[in-house]
Amino acid sequence: MFASSEAFERAAQLRRELEAHNYAYYVLDAPTVPDAEYDRLFRELEALEAKYPELATPDSPTRRVGGAPMPELRPVRHKVPMLSIRTETDTSNGGIVAFDTRVRNALGLGETDPAVEYAGELKFDGLAISLRYEDGVLVSGATRGDGETGEDVTHNVRTIRQIPLRLKGDAPAVIEVRGEIYMRRDEFDKLNARQLAAGEKVFVNPRNAAAGAVRQLDPRIAAKRPLSFFAYGLGEVGDWKMPGTHAGLLDALAAFGFPVCELRVLAQGVEGLKAFHDRIAALRDSLPYDIDGVVYKVNRFDLQRELGFVTREPRWAVAHKYPAQEEITELLGIEVQVGRTGALTPVARLKPVFVGGVTVTNATLHNEEEIQRKGILIGDHVIVRRAGDVIPQVVAAIVERRTGMERAFVMPTSCPVCGSHVDKAEDEAVARCTGGLFCPAQRKQALLHFAGRRAMDIEGLGDKLVDQLVEAGIVKTPADLYKLGVLALANLQRMAEKSAANLLAAIEKSRHTTLARFIFALGIRNVGEATAKDLARHFGSLDRVMDASVEQLLEVPDVGPIVAESIAAFFAEAHNREVIEQLRAAGVTWEEGAPAARVAGGLSGKVFVLTGTLPTMSREDAKALIEARGGKVSGSVSKKTDYVVAGAEAGSKLAKAQELGVAILDEAGLLQLIEAE
Ligand code: IVH
Repeated sequence: MFASSEAFERAAQLRRELEAHNYAYYVLDAPTVPDAEYDRLFRELEALEAKYPELATPDSPTRRVGGAPMPELRPVRHKVPMLSIRTETDTSNGGIVAFDTRVRNALGLGETDPAVEYAGELKFDGLAISLRYEDGVLVSGATRGDGETGEDVTHNVRTIRQIPLRLKGDAPAVIEVRGEIYMRRDEFDKLNARQLAAGEKVFVNPRNAAAGAVRQLDPRIAAKRPLSFFAYGLGEVGDWKMPGTHAGLLDALAAFGFPVCELRVLAQGVEGLKAFHDRIAALRDSLPYDIDGVVYKVNRFDLQRELGFVTREPRWAVAHKYPAQEEITELLGIEVQVGRTGALTPVARLKPVFVGGVTVTNATLHNEEEIQRKGILIGDHVIVRRAGDVIPQVVAAIVERRTGMERAFVMPTSCPVCGSHVDKAEDEAVARCTGGLFCPAQRKQALLHFAGRRAMDIEGLGDKLVDQLVEAGIVKTPADLYKLGVLALANLQRMAEKSAANLLAAIEKSRHTTLARFIFALGIRNVGEATAKDLARHFGSLDRVMDASVEQLLEVPDVGPIVAESIAAFFAEAHNREVIEQLRAAGVTWEEGAPAARVAGGLSGKVFVLTGTLPTMSREDAKALIEARGGKVSGSVSKKTDYVVAGAEAGSKLAKAQELGVAILDEAGLLQLIEAE
């Protein structure tokens, strides 16, 4: 069958587009599309060329692995080509089965033959590099380029501290070590903060920051960018007794002084690879660097040789990707939302896009400055990122795709909900509606916060219901909730008798609470759950908190000037005191006690993180136990964490603790610690 003129046109268009992306990515270090989009275009062209071989022109981007070398850097010919590996596009476990089947068939293994042993490692998201050592001394570093010819970046490679200038031990006469140069996420964030402060371009992701640094002409620039390296393979070798396996090679490279990633395994067959794949998937978001998948390699070199290559890809290795965390979509509009404290937040309305495992339609844009800094216009094509549980972010606009119809976003000068004046302090990035509880948006958020699970815990009082109650004018302040009757609720849409009764029961149940929850429920700016607990413990009664001066508030552990000021300001407002009186009058009560003794519990100042399932205690119990003794419980592990309490199926937090060298306790250890105090 001959290609139709449509197929011909499409192939030509795809070639042009891919080449433009290649140029932007490889030559300019300024990618115009996320990888997933590039891969899609690439695969579409591959498929077209497979179907109609006459479309596969010699200049097709499918004929080469990478892009053209930068003209300014000296070209280096790789004696052993730097190949790429086949990507398994099936992101589920099916990809593993497909790979193992190919390997077994090619090796002529039958069903009764034992499982093939694989080396499983991470697919680092950086740039590939080949380091040449002669008599143990680093003589050159080259990028991959098109696989045959790369660029000489020795001057920059030498600035990377993780790369040995001289090998340890008995070095072979010639050895080319291959691996990935990458940038850690924390270093990337710091770099971007510095770039921003200096008014310079910020980078879209760590990989581009790393690639940009390595391909600088001036090594002083690369030296200022903290780059890291992991070794994972070999190029040319001479006069060396090679290990017999990939795992053995990595051990040897580590012994020469190269960083080799610890997260590697020997896996037996499909089952072993599945376990590795799933373990790394769970760890992915807590790793200190980006990975876009895992790599499986047949461990034995004799089997690798037997398997050989298909076109330019080894048959003995495969890259198994995880679902993309970045995608491209259209920014349909920017809406302004009003939060509990009046903060106006611009929210991106996006054309629905599947990214990071969910369909995303909105993304926060934080504030006006952020939009300006990123240069985002309404109508732009944008890169959207969603990693782990983190809320989706708009990373950047794709300027090349503009049509001229895009328009700039302007922050309104009056509140889009209540029309009140919008205030923006000079030293603050946030614009705020000045309407306070007059503003229905703020009122709704305040009510939702009040009813929240960690505050008064009124089950069933969600978004939609609060909207209706506020819009109908039935509820103005939290105190009004306790005056609700079946009649008022019956008039609301979609409110069946049963749910009205349930809601009233939930409200009733919330009438008695703890002082800490009550303080938190008030929604005082800068007073989160932990501060509310500190205040309750320190003062013992609401009246004492209400009457405390800024100085007295500052005596509370962990309360600084900003928090003290906002607490004092809150209680200085007559209408806030009024709402509290109304709540009291409506029969809301909480436990009060004496102010805490000066010296807090034995765990005072210690920060704990709980993870996994403990054998006898619930997480809430463990938290209460720690807090009762003055300790703090935090949600994420950092250098400030003193102890991680880990139970069954503890995942990424435990791994992070191990990495940072944080003390790890089990339930028994926690109890011992408490007793010892
Ligand atoms: S092995 C012949 N191992 O992924 C096999 N590559 O297309 C050569 N990469 O350009 C590659 N982590 O930049 C290998 N653990 C790993 C890797 C890895 C990342 C990159 C590398 C290469 C691409 C493969």
